[in-house]
Amino acid sequence: MGFPDNFLWGGATAANQIEGAYLEEGKGLSTADMMTAGSPTLKRAITSVIESDRYYPTHEAIDHYHRFEEDIALFAEMGFKCYRFSIAWSRIFPQGDETEPNAKGLAFYDRLIDLCLENDIEPLVTISHFENPMGLQKYGSWENRKVVDFYLRYAETLFEHFKGRVRYWLTFNEINVMSTMPWNAGGIASSDEAVKMTAAYHQFIASALAVKAGHEIDLDNKIGTMYAGHFSYPNSCDPDDIQGNEDFMHKMLFYPDVQCRGYYPNYKLKELERQHITLPVLPADAEILKAGVVDFVSFSYYMTHVCGKNTTGILRGLNGLETGYKNPHIERSAWGWGIDPKGLRYALNYLYDRYQLPVMVVENGLGAADTVVDGKIHDDYRIDYLRQHISEMRKAIDLDGVPVMGYTSWGPIDLISASTGEMSKRYGFIYVDVDDEGNGTKQRIKKDSFAWYKQVIATNGEDL
Ligand code: BG6
Repeated sequence: MGFPDNFLWGGATAANQIEGAYLEEGKGLSTADMMTAGSPTLKRAITSVIESDRYYPTHEAIDHYHRFEEDIALFAEMGFKCYRFSIAWSRIFPQGDETEPNAKGLAFYDRLIDLCLENDIEPLVTISHFENPMGLQKYGSWENRKVVDFYLRYAETLFEHFKGRVRYWLTFNEINVMSTMPWNAGGIASSDEAVKMTAAYHQFIASALAVKAGHEIDLDNKIGTMYAGHFSYPNSCDPDDIQGNEDFMHKMLFYPDVQCRGYYPNYKLKELERQHITLPVLPADAEILKAGVVDFVSFSYYMTHVCGKNTTGILRGLNGLETGYKNPHIERSAWGWGIDPKGLRYALNYLYDRYQLPVMVVENGLGAADTVVDGKIHDDYRIDYLRQHISEMRKAIDLDGVPVMGYTSWGPIDLISASTGEMSKRYGFIYVDVDDEGNGTKQRIKKDSFAWYKQVIATNGEDL
């Protein structure tokens, strides 16, 4: 009983949130590079050019590009079995539409991946995590079918180049974020539903083609969906609340439904019909979607929601989703996210029941402010959060028989927040001395949670 022997313990990051070096060695501008810093009360602005008097947190981030050796050594010291990171598309194809990749961009990831392998850390690569080359804006980004070809060329380049070294892949981070944060998901500046649904359609086609290509290039490749873990409870047993909750879940779940089943669910087709939205379907697309179903289901898990008859659509606040209801039975983080460890067991069961595919938790953690006292960070609140979540994940394995492949906590090293652009919303076992304006030495300091997580991994989750 307990976690399987080959359980993939580790951590997860995204290139734009850690690397910095935003124009080095041939890298082009990405959509993430155009986002200024925000806060829980100030939305991040998206500028069309880099404005010299504004602060863009991804440009330097935590300078992982120059310090990856130190960072991977720290992950190895914690005993990571797996490291989930993303490749910055604009390092490999700076404008997105080139025919030949940037050799220096590939060389950076060669060094990173080889170092992981030397330390017995299994790389799990997210092909697209909240950044698209800005050069694709002239095509209308994912609204244009041409971008499918550019993405496929990029994905095939990675599959070929890292063949035999990388076996686990995710085609798009949190693909359902197209509905809530279209700029992050696909460089889409419009909030028009028809535009978002067109862009999502193209991402499904691109993902399916990439899955097929990935399998053809290397039979050992395992390629997954990555769902932004929005799980919602009905506000009450009032049938109208149940339906309101179901409607919300459908808006989120149709994304992994398409990627896991290979076709659009009827509820989504009917909704699109009511909205007078016509998808840009080409004759061979049904076959493409069917041939490109994923091998496993991965998701991020931070919180749960409550929805009901008053939930209208998907409303995004500055810090996350606003559904119109709050759960009185759970606490909330300082950033307002509803902390629900038991919901993780529910989520794991929910996804496994729905898809019958192996499941992996590829993001989970507590974003919290940390204080350095005499060079130390006593983050017992973070340990507490993770302990409770890991223990519920264990129940899903032990009591419910869910085949959970692994667990990579979000931001094992402090990084830039995707939603607010802050540095002070910290998730790491490793503190990084950078503040919300980008000031600081970038020195790395182990927090108390560092030794705790190391022990969790060393005991394969027995000692929490
Ligand atoms: C997920 C993203 O949505 O949540 C990450 O995949 C992100 O990129 C993480 O950083 C945590 O969100 P935030 O807004 O606290 O950084």
